[in-house]
Amino acid sequence: MNPLLSKIIGIFCCLIGILAMAIVPHVLYWPGSLWLLGIYTDQAAKVTIGIVGLSFLILGLQLIIFSKSRVITRNSFRGIAVVGIIGLFAVVIPTAANSRIIANLTNGSEIKDIPLKYAGNKEHRFLVIGDTGHRSERLGPMMELIGSMHDDHPIEAAILLGDMLDADEPFDEAVQFQFIEPFKPLIDRGIPQFLALGNHEIYDGHAEGAIAHPIFNMEGNTYYARTFADGELTVFFLDSTRIVDHPAQLLWFRQKLAQTTSKWKVVAMHHGLMGSDINHGPDERRYHFLEPLLHGENGVDLVLSGHNHFYERMNPIKGTVFITSGHGSNPTHQTAPEHPETAFRMIQTRGFLIMSLGEGYLDIQSITEDGEVVDGVTLVKDNLRVAAGE
Ligand SMILES: [Fe+2]
Repeated sequence: MNPLLSKIIGIFCCLIGILAMAIVPHVLYWPGSLWLLGIYTDQAAKVTIGIVGLSFLILGLQLIIFSKSRVITRNSFRGIAVVGIIGLFAVVIPTAANSRIIANLTNGSEIKDIPLKYAGNKEHRFLVIGDTGHRSERLGPMMELIGSMHDDHPIEAAILLGDMLDADEPFDEAVQFQFIEPFKPLIDRGIPQFLALGNHEIYDGHAEGAIAHPIFNMEGNTYYARTFADGELTVFFLDSTRIVDHPAQLLWFRQKLAQTTSKWKVVAMHHGLMGSDINHGPDERRYHFLEPLLHGENGVDLVLSGHNHFYERMNPIKGTVFITSGHGSNPTHQTAPEHPETAFRMIQTRGFLIMSLGEGYLDIQSITEDGEVVDGVTLVKDNLRVAAGE
């Protein structure tokens, strides 16, 4: 090969290598195909990209230094081909599979920015969180973070989306170690907790204890409604595990919906009705059962669900927005194509939602355990507006 051409290609390889190594600290997570290596973690992605970058740098230096040696340059090109194939699996395939997730994460902002969007307005704020019942060590710091948010911008209540208690152990131990201890920063600050029962509370034998325990404010009911913000908002806490073929709950829900005078109606239920087919996937049976009540003039503005361990916001479907927020603990590492109506999805990252009610709007922001706002939607009455990424 022409030595000059070899040097030019060598410089090009060096630049690619330096660029790859420079982006390593900014790799947040990597959905997709690292299953080839049997590993999924963020660290694996960083190591892989780092190795590819370093290899390109070494190969580039070889091409520059030994540009007159035919044998070395030939072997160098073989090396580039091997590294390129590794790079294809490590970079191109996961990026193509879900490039949108990675792109959207760059829109994040600082935690202190959360209320600035409507800083001049009086807001009622609510925490929405689900599926924390796994005794994760990282749950405590996330609760401390939410507690510090509350100090600056008070949170009126926590809406719990179920599976907050999931181990097969006595209720007193489960509630103490899985909920009261990790949620201490919120409990100590006097933030009331409202639980929508999950399948684990029920099947692990904690339902009766939960509905009777004052910490969850269920007052003995498996499904119930609470009104907030001087009557502006009603949240219906459904027992989604036992809703299909349970006409009493459906009848109650229909009556309560008809009676409420709240401007905003939100359902908090454990099972997700709409979304990508990850974990347990969307629950079409439950959706068709509830569908006639959710939509229409007297319907529901927002359905909040857990169960599936990731975050996903759907485009409005017949005027109702569906959000999955089951990423309170141990987020999933599975992936699958997005649902056709997915507006934003985030997997492999732990987090929670802050729902803010102001005059004429209901705003929901998705926040990671690191305090980064990754997604948001603002619902405006009488003129539904989706303002994702603002
Ligand atoms: Fe669940």
